[in-house]
Amino acid sequence: MTREKLRIGLFGYGCVGQGLHDVLNSSKGFKADIVRICVKDRSKKRRIPMSNFTFDKNDILNDPSINLVVELIDDAEEAFNIVSTALKSGKNVVTANKLMVATHFRELVEMQWKYKVSLLYEASAGASIPIIRNLEEYYDNELLHSLRGILNGTTNYILTKMYNEDREYADILKEAQEKGFAESKPALDVDGWDAKYKLCIITGHAYGLFLNPDEVFHYGISNVSRFDIRYAKEKGYKIKLVPYVGKTDDTTITSFVLPRFISADKYLYNVDNEYNGVITQAAFADKQFFSGKGAGGHATGSAVLSDISANSYGYKYEYKKFQQGTITKYTRDFKLEVYLRYKDEKDVELFGFEEVSEYFSSKFDKYVIGVVNLKNLYELREQLQSKDVFIVNTGRKVIETGT
Ligand SMILES: NC(=O)c1ccc[n+]([C@@H]2O[C@H](COP(=O)([O-])OP(=O)(O)OC[C@H]3O[C@@H](n4cnc5c(N)ncnc54)[C@H](OP(=O)(O)O)[C@@H]3O)[C@@H](O)[C@H]2O)c1
Repeated sequence: MTREKLRIGLFGYGCVGQGLHDVLNSSKGFKADIVRICVKDRSKKRRIPMSNFTFDKNDILNDPSINLVVELIDDAEEAFNIVSTALKSGKNVVTANKLMVATHFRELVEMQWKYKVSLLYEASAGASIPIIRNLEEYYDNELLHSLRGILNGTTNYILTKMYNEDREYADILKEAQEKGFAESKPALDVDGWDAKYKLCIITGHAYGLFLNPDEVFHYGISNVSRFDIRYAKEKGYKIKLVPYVGKTDDTTITSFVLPRFISADKYLYNVDNEYNGVITQAAFADKQFFSGKGAGGHATGSAVLSDISANSYGYKYEYKKFQQGTITKYTRDFKLEVYLRYKDEKDVELFGFEEVSEYFSSKFDKYVIGVVNLKNLYELREQLQSKDVFIVNTGRKVIETGT
């Protein structure tokens, strides 16, 4: 296939935008020109001459010589405006914006078909880990039973530090913010939203369902205590934030984001700090494990470059699993075993435990381990954050242990 000469219009010159710039400059054999960079803040000092920049998005969107838009801004709604305008005017787009892709997934897929253009977003799911194209191409005919992983570097960094240093969550979060590993408004990461958006994108390519993220239960790590980490450590586990999607029968899937106990014999146990990991469990290939940096300008920039390169060969996602139409249903009627640390006995009743295998109560700490229905967790989702509880998927019982 011939390679189209790329003239790129870049939106955003922050962590990933500058990372991409560096990665492109180091890839000598790769012919692509960044024609123009659109940014927002007129007062910011830039490390390259101002003649490269514009503050008007139309300088890129209306330039017929630009054949690829690379969108790397941190404002999802404006990103959607930019991306949809570009696609509608026949320009291919590469983006890293998981919030935008996950919340407008179906619409963006339809736009690609309608306007015969390509939107690639590998960096939006696993940052440097090439998972989307793998799901599209490698797992084309494979019966994928499940996929789980660590998809958020900030939470993994905090949990790793808590495990290694036996310090409180708030203390480590503050330090992570000071070092620039966590955002000043960290809810997107620590409450599990980011992991959920990535899971929804992965689900589209793994199973062909474009889920509304609101339909998917997520629970993050902002209530985790030293007691929880110590409990896990004593039992030989680490706690990781693990999004999961898997089949419940031949035509149905379920998915959720929950902290999970991981024992030392599992792949994810050694995925620490800002690293991400993804495990696929398939009928023939069995278990496969992908690992790599889950954040950072250069690591993410490398995935963006890979999409730019794929684009130059005319690559488009075919959404093969959607076309096959094998999976047609999504369910939250799914039982799983959880550890629930709590203060108030009344809170336990809310969870509707169906079986209890362990119960512990002392003056300061209490926990129960038993089977709950995901439906109940979903019903409780708005109350959970404000309660003095912490939930961890034990990974035993209903879901096969595989990580
Ligand atoms: N950071 C990571 O490790 C990582 C990993 C995977 C995916 N991502 C995704 O990549 C995207 C960019 O993240 P980032 O970390 O690079 O963000 P960032 O460092 O905060 O940079 C954001 C950039 O977007 C520009 N911008 C914001 N609003 C704009 C607008 N309306 N028009 C033009 N430019 C605008 C900013 O302009 P100014 O320079 O003028 O402020 C800045 O250059 C996000 O969607 C993020 O979720 C990031």
